[in-house]
Amino acid sequence: MEIDLRLLPTSPDSGVLSTRSVVVLDILRATSVIVHALAQGAKEFIPVRTVEEAFDVKRRFPLGTTFLGGEKDTRPIEGFDLGNSPREYVAEKVRDKRIILRTTNGSQAFHLVSSAREVMVGSFFNVEATARRCMEFGINLLIFPSGDEGTFSLEDTVCGGMIIDRMLKIKGKEVTLTDASNAALILFKRFENNLVEVFHLSHHGNKLISLGRDEDLPYCAQTDTISMVPIFKNGVIRLPD
Ligand code: MLT
Repeated sequence: MEIDLRLLPTSPDSGVLSTRSVVVLDILRATSVIVHALAQGAKEFIPVRTVEEAFDVKRRFPLGTTFLGGEKDTRPIEGFDLGNSPREYVAEKVRDKRIILRTTNGSQAFHLVSSAREVMVGSFFNVEATARRCMEFGINLLIFPSGDEGTFSLEDTVCGGMIIDRMLKIKGKEVTLTDASNAALILFKRFENNLVEVFHLSHHGNKLISLGRDEDLPYCAQTDTISMVPIFKNGVIRLPD
């Protein structure tokens, strides 16, 4: 199987997607939020593109069942129930709740890859589980960093490199890497022993620090704390049955 990685978050060709599984990554912080909240017992996520869409979708569901979460320009959104820090998404608050998520990059990325054979949600929290699921699924893989407003994201690419590193350690299938996935692997090796350092070098990591949200950095760098891989299907993200 071939492992490719998108260095920029542009929409892949639908022909390419129809033959591949995809892992969406937005380490700071959308996919970290999704993986964490579902592990805390949230029912499902609906990723949307705009704030208006989030309010519209919420109206379709019975009162008390659905929260709005996310950020705009890295800040909490007026009228939303939750922001975009995984630390907010604790069991007491989110258990059995549906969350409509609007973020700058992460919630958009799912819509760019929705025609793939399978769309998984990755993060540092579930890196080993993601690598195993990709190997078990066994078809060509595209790792899709959500990026930073259309540009390259250091932390997403490093996490992609870590997933590749773990996949290569699982025996059983012959794996080939593209130049982009090789580059992500090399980058991961550089930061292997200090993932938080990546956040201190990255544009978005520094933005979070400047807004006083630096506690999210070590939190999002926790590795292999969750062994589940959420799946995006028909517009909804859930844990597999
Ligand atoms: C995004 O989707 O762009 C991020 O999750 C932004 C953030 O959390 O600050």
